[in-house]
Parts: sequence; structure tokens; C-alpha cells
Amino acid sequence: MDSPLIDPFQRAITYLRVSVTDRCDFRCVYCMSENMTFLPKRDLLTLEELDTVCTTFIDMGVKKLRITGGEPLVRKGIMGFFEGMTRHLESGALNELTVTTNGSQLERFAPQLVAAGVKRINVSLDTLDEEKFARVTRWGRLPQVLRGLDAAQAAGLRVKLNVVALKGFNEDELFSLVEFCKSRDMDITFIEVMPMGDLGGEDRIGQYWSLKELRARLAEQYTLIDLAERSGGPARYVALQETGQKVGFITPLSHNFCESCNRVRMTCTGELFMCLGQEDRADLREALRTHGDSPELRAAIRAAINLKPEGHDFDYSRQEIGGQMSRHMSHTGG
Ligand code: GTP
Ligand code: 5AD
Ligand code: SF4
Repeated sequence: MDSPLIDPFQRAITYLRVSVTDRCDFRCVYCMSENMTFLPKRDLLTLEELDTVCTTFIDMGVKKLRITGGEPLVRKGIMGFFEGMTRHLESGALNELTVTTNGSQLERFAPQLVAAGVKRINVSLDTLDEEKFARVTRWGRLPQVLRGLDAAQAAGLRVKLNVVALKGFNEDELFSLVEFCKSRDMDITFIEVMPMGDLGGEDRIGQYWSLKELRARLAEQYTLIDLAERSGGPARYVALQETGQKVGFITPLSHNFCESCNRVRMTCTGELFMCLGQEDRADLREALRTHGDSPELRAAIRAAINLKPEGHDFDYSRQEIGGQMSRHMSHTGG
């Protein structure tokens, strides 16, 4: 194995998030505009190139690999890629292979994900109301996602719901979402909405529901016990004493967690982004296409990690948006 990846702030980079497509079958209002232009196919890394670059990262110390998008499960042939990664789980080089999905394709793919060695998945779901779901995802249909959740659990996957906290949208569903997860034995994580991408007039500050507030609301009905447990991502967890269930909070705005950042993200074109909330990036595709797994590719990866910034600058505190990113969330996969 190659020597580990350490960034300028002495953080070991052990978590790679890979966006395998910029396309999605939904158009969530906080993520995409209604008419997105997608990349031409030739710009995408092939499935073989994805395998090569992920394998290189794993050899350089990456222990957790999360596949994202767009919607990762709409990429043609993606199950073949998952199956390829199984060898790294079997050898012990990789601890976790996982996916963040909108759930629309799980009915079809859940058993194959399990066969490839995926144990736990994160599904984005912001509301349990069909009409609101159609509104927030524009193109999505709730029953399809609910069938996906059924299929995932039937196949033996542990499921965590990712809920973006949206003021005036799902505030009234806080308890029903938590109870839904309890009844289905799923975990749940709430996320603060981040200023990613120009959405043509969507009001970010108006959408922002601080998780400090959400947590206080939750504490009116439950006793929250802080847990030291980490899943290797940015979420911090509490247990609800009354039900024993676990609730996560991802708080890029109200509480910055960058000091313990262990991750980088690669786009479907082979660009490595060192931080979700900064522009710093490096192109790996050139070295990958020309040389494959090679000293050149490894040097490009190390040079990129050396540019990892200390943290993001997202900030809504002055009633205006600080740290706004021009790229959409679907570009880097969250
Ligand atoms: P677990 O393995 O379950 O801990 O997953 P995770 O929270 O790392 O992954 P997931 O894909 O579910 O991410 C949930 C949300 O956290 C997404 O909306 C991401 O955008 C956000 N997130 C993940 N990493 C970062 C980060 O480094 N910075 C910021 N600001 N947000 C992040
Ligand atoms: N802010 C916070 N979370 C977002 N997601 C997409 N766009 C945003 C945003 N602007 C979430 C999705 C999914 C995850 C990958 O990112 O809901 O759970
Ligand atoms: Fe698609 Fe996820 Fe973006 Fe929604 S948040 S449009 S499901 S990539």
C-alpha cells in the first residue's frame, strides 16, 4: 500500500465520495433548476476509469467509498462498478461501500447492492406527503420511493433517511418523520440547506431552518442524549431516550464541523473537489486517461490533497448569503 493521504491541516483523507453521473430523474428545488443542461457522455469517466481511480484511492488509504450523483443508480451499468468494488471489501482494503440515493431505483437494484457488499444506504426523503413530495422533487413520485425503501429493507440493507430541513415546508412533519423511521427501524438525519447552485430565484434564507431550532423542537417531546458515535461522515448523533432511536444532525451552517473533515469528492468527469463549499479542485481525468493507475495519477492526487482548504465559508448570519457556491449540489453529489 502507498503512504496515506494527509492534508495540510494534518487530517487523514480516508473517505471518498464519487459522483458517477450528474443526471437525475428528480429535480429537487434546492438542488437543481428545472431545466438543467447535463454533460455530454464523452466527458464522463467510463466505468473502467472509475474502477481504476477508486482502486488507486483505496490503495492510498481510502477506507470508505460513497457513490453519489445526481442519482447514482440511473447511470447505465453502474451495478457492474459496484460488483468490481466488492474485491476491495473482501480483501479488507475497504471498510465500507455505500450509496446516497433518491430511492427511485431501489426496487430494481437493492438485491444487487447487497450482493456487492453494500450494507447501509442513505435515502433522501424530505416529506411523507405525496403532494409535497411531488412539489419538492418536481419530477418524483412518493409511492415509487416508498416501494424502494421496502425493497431495500427486504434485501437486508440498513436505511438512513436524509431529510433537508426546510422552513415552511417540512417543519410540521418533524415528528411524523421521526415516528415513521421508528416504525420502520430506520435511522434519520436532518441536514441544513446549503447555498449551492443558482436556482433562479429560490429563496435560500427563507428556506433555512436551523437545526438548533429543530433540535429544540424535538426536545419538547423527547429526551435527547448526545452520542459520541460517528459514522465517518459529518453527522452528529443523539439517541431519543423514549424510543431508543438514533437521530443525526448535519449542521454546516449553525455548527461548522470542518476541523474533523476526512473526505474529498470526485465528480463524474474526474475532477477532485477538496471541499464541498470551496472552489479548489484538480483534474484527475487527464492523468487517468493517459496513464491509468500510475505515478502520474498518484502525484496528481497528492498535489490535490495538498490544496485542501481548512473549511467552507457558508454563512447566513448577516441575513444575506455568505459562501454561495455557483455549482449545483448534483455536480459533486453532496
Ligand atoms: P454517513 O456515512 O451516513 O455518515 O453519510 P454522510 O452523512 O457522510 O453522507 P450523505 O451522502 O448522507 O450526506 C449527507 C449530507 O451531508 C449531504 O447533503 C452532504 O452534502 C452533506 N455533507 C457531507 N459531507 C459534507 C461536507 O464535507 N461539508 C458539508 N458542508 N456538507 C457535507
Ligand atoms: N443543501 C443541503 N442538502 C442538499 N442536498 C441537495 N442539495 C442540498 C442543499 N442545497 C442533499 C440531498 C441529499 C444529499 C446528497 O444532499 O437531499 O440527501
Ligand atoms: Fe436528484 Fe438528489 Fe438533486 Fe434531488 S437532491 S435533484 S434526488 S440529485
